[in-house]
Amino acid sequence: MDFTHLDSIVDDPESITEVVLAAMSKTDDARLKQIIDALVRHAHAFFREVELTDQEFEKGLEFVKAIGQATVDDHNEVVLAADVLGFSTLVTLLNTADRSNRTPGALLGPFYRGHSPEYADGASIVAEGSPGAPLFVRGRVVDTAGTPVEGALVDVWQASPIGLYENQDPDQPDMNLRGRFRTDAQGYFRLRSVRPAGYPVPTHGPVGRLLEKQHRHPYRPAHIHFVVVAQGYETLISQVFADDSEYLGSDVVFGVNRALVGTFSAHDDGKAPAPDVNGPYYTLEYEFVVAEGTPVWPTPPIK
Ligand code: BEZ
Ligand code: FE
Repeated sequence: MDFTHLDSIVDDPESITEVVLAAMSKTDDARLKQIIDALVRHAHAFFREVELTDQEFEKGLEFVKAIGQATVDDHNEVVLAADVLGFSTLVTLLNTADRSNRTPGALLGPFYRGHSPEYADGASIVAEGSPGAPLFVRGRVVDTAGTPVEGALVDVWQASPIGLYENQDPDQPDMNLRGRFRTDAQGYFRLRSVRPAGYPVPTHGPVGRLLEKQHRHPYRPAHIHFVVVAQGYETLISQVFADDSEYLGSDVVFGVNRALVGTFSAHDDGKAPAPDVNGPYYTLEYEFVVAEGTPVWPTPPIK
């Protein structure tokens, strides 16, 4: 038989990479071609480097299948896997490390929900009766020249004082500790909340089993998530971490950047900016610097 026109016949491990690249060479979309070509080259090199056995390959495929199967409407194991392997933080940093003075990004995480309520300046995102030490946040959005950005939409979400997001906790009402605010003419927005606690990422699925095998703790330091969306600016997806938080130096998802550590100042002076707060309270001030560009809303990983 004449084999000369059967281009995809592979007789040895050395030749397969070129054969696969040739088979994909007609991809019209140039960016898709660049990405998949690189994926194939790097994945093949990785299999060669570790001399992957058939059993290990099967295990790897089982892991990918399991993270898909563990993903449901209110839990995204795929995002979690990308986070604990440092993929999410690397991509975030690659896209924001342009050496300008903009605020660094931090991973979106698996708990972002779209369509949280929009609140008036200074409003509370804490549902009536939810416990916690009062926290008053004053944020400011400016551009890289320091000019205030008016009308930016700031989407905020955080875990409760026991380290649970509302969608993980039957004791919290829908959308508790989530809300959107608009910046004023000076770029400021204010909100009232409660101090968030650090928390373990969900460990009920395959990612939890991987962390166990790696002898890694599953904790994140206490933080508040912010997405800043403004006309004429790149969307900033970030987090501000409590300076006194445990696990600040060992975040399981590698989200902590020194520039994102905020000072959570403790007060007990009877001067809280709310008449019902007479005891201790905290304040946080943080300036977000956004870079010029085109805003894009992130896709919520859960409903
Ligand atoms: C979060 O900050 O919400 C988060 C990020 C990564 C994994 C789990 C949670
Ligand atoms: Fe979080």
